[in-house]
Amino acid sequence: MLQCSHAPMFPCSNVPMLQCSHAPMSNILLISGSPRKGNTEYILSAVKKILKKAGYQPELVLLRKEKIKECLGCSVCQAGKPCPLKDEMGRLNQKLLTADYLIIGSPTYFNMISGLLKKWIDRTNPLYFKNQLEGKHGSIIAVGAAGRQSIGKAGENIKHFFDIYKIITDQIILFEAEHPDDVKDNLEYQKKIRQFADGVIRGI
Ligand SMILES: Cc1cc2nc3c(=O)[nH]c(=O)nc-3n(C[C@H](O)[C@H](O)[C@H](O)COP(=O)(O)O)c2cc1C
Repeated sequence: MLQCSHAPMFPCSNVPMLQCSHAPMSNILLISGSPRKGNTEYILSAVKKILKKAGYQPELVLLRKEKIKECLGCSVCQAGKPCPLKDEMGRLNQKLLTADYLIIGSPTYFNMISGLLKKWIDRTNPLYFKNQLEGKHGSIIAVGAAGRQSIGKAGENIKHFFDIYKIITDQIILFEAEHPDDVKDNLEYQKKIRQFADGVIRGI
């Protein structure tokens, strides 16, 4: 009989699948705010792989591959009407709504998140007015080359986004890396990614 494959810390990992009470129903949405195929994307892909192995349903959205127009500031969504911009954001906001858990990663640019991630954040505004993300849980990944103080600011940016939406922050994790493969080539960081993913599973 199939054994439960959920996180090893669950006592049910040794019981048959049918008796397992931790159904892998959780939709986990991972968002990469990096414009390149580098560290943020690598970390999120590795976390996704671990979550999938544990029986969850993770989906990774690479914002660099999405066509997202900038918020016009027209405030039409504030009146409860649909956003007049026609692009991928309708679909992406729908993913946010149906996600049970959110993981957002960004490179640090000038002590802030990337412009790409900020553009996406601004376009989630239609959800804000209906308070539609309140009570979800999430975790944060920030990457940068100029030390923890600088990278921490990008992490804080994402935390502010979570706070505004009343999303509960489970973890904020920072990686020091400059070149695209720096995290991939670092053994210590592989352990850190594993621990982060375990923390996500505990928070679900
Ligand atoms: C325009 C720009 C600004 C940057 N500013 C910072 C910064 O303020 N602090 C920092 O720690 N790293 C900074 N960096 C370095 C990147 O955060 C670093 O290369 C990181 O690994 C990029 O993540 P990625 O590989 O996921 O794209 C900057 C890089 C660029 C291109």
